[in-house]
Amino acid sequence: MMIGLDDVVAAETSLSHVDGEAGRLIIAGHDLEELAGRVSFEDVAAMLWEGFVPDAAADTKALLSAARQRAYVHLAPLSSRLANLTPVEGMRLLLASLPDAERDHAALAVGAAGVAAAMAVRGAQGLAPVAPDSLLGHAADILRMMRDTPVSAEEAQGLDTYLVTVIDHGLNASTFTARVVASTQAGTLSSVVAGLCALKGPLHGGAPGPVLDMLDAIGTIENADAWLDDAMARGERLMGFGHRIYRVRDPRADVLKAAAGRLKGKSNRIAFAEAVEATALTVLERRKPGRRLDTNVEFYTAILLDALGVPREGFTPLFAAGRSAGWVAHAIEQTRTGRIIRPQSRYVGAWPAKAA
Ligand code: ACO
Repeated sequence: MMIGLDDVVAAETSLSHVDGEAGRLIIAGHDLEELAGRVSFEDVAAMLWEGFVPDAAADTKALLSAARQRAYVHLAPLSSRLANLTPVEGMRLLLASLPDAERDHAALAVGAAGVAAAMAVRGAQGLAPVAPDSLLGHAADILRMMRDTPVSAEEAQGLDTYLVTVIDHGLNASTFTARVVASTQAGTLSSVVAGLCALKGPLHGGAPGPVLDMLDAIGTIENADAWLDDAMARGERLMGFGHRIYRVRDPRADVLKAAAGRLKGKSNRIAFAEAVEATALTVLERRKPGRRLDTNVEFYTAILLDALGVPREGFTPLFAAGRSAGWVAHAIEQTRTGRIIRPQSRYVGAWPAKAA
């Protein structure tokens, strides 16, 4: 029996495939590198939603734009409740307020995830929400709603690349969670809220903020080896490294590193990150020889989102905004099987004493 479900196949999906030995990610029949930075988030969502979401192929940009407007009307009255919550907790509160039975629930969930991510980041700082702009693409509008400043085409492209890169990734913990909830016929919004709850932990989607904390604490490259080695000696995990499936470099790392490199004036930060990454890989091999621990998606997520002016507490909400399109597709795919996910546990507790 596998505790942690490694190697257990719990679903059939046509949505995405992760090859951990080859370092390959296939999304809706395409290699990640064919999509990220080349096809918009809306168009990749349409590929995932084909056959699942009515009208998805026709005009996902319009569908998501309308969904952001509807979501904003629902969510803005709750913004005064966000001040004492972290952004990801605020996002959880906002998404949990949406009804499951809403029409266009798939698009609403994804539109709402974008609006909620931006609103929760602002709300945590005591700032009022910014309404969506129906003329903008999803990525550009999220960044504008979060920062309340105009977004350049280059920045919009950077966030769009990020949202596509994280849109779906096999049966990771949050997607599995979303499918378990969907399998009970609980509804799409409930599945997305459940996915967010699973994503927020530091072992899954909560790592990119701590990656920046780590880079700040290291400070200079001369300090990197000693700092990283000490952290591992204390039994800590290096954030942005290691993965349950990938035994080689996560293909998403290079896509995001390239996207960060395309943003003007950010080369110093990237050069420092690259040097720390190289040192971390040496330290990991020294301390955990043969474990094949490599760079994961979170390392360059931190660099890219920081370069876009997103506060580090906003990284996980943006991850959820991108992944929500995948959660929705998985939830509908799972619901259609009509079968509840219900594994077994092995009882290791005490047995009732036999009557004498
Ligand atoms: N730093 C130091 N040691 C590590 C790290 C790390 N980042 N990752 C794994 N290890 C160690 C484990 O402690 C384990 O050591 P042991 O055999 O001596 O006990 C060994 O390497 C093997 O671990 P795995 O079984 O490969 O890792 P697991 O599948 O349990 O965990 C996880 C994967 C949670 C991602 C882990 O690598 C980790 O905690 N990374 C840091 C946090 C992080 O970057 N999270 C984002 C993941 S990407 C995503 O979900 C979007």
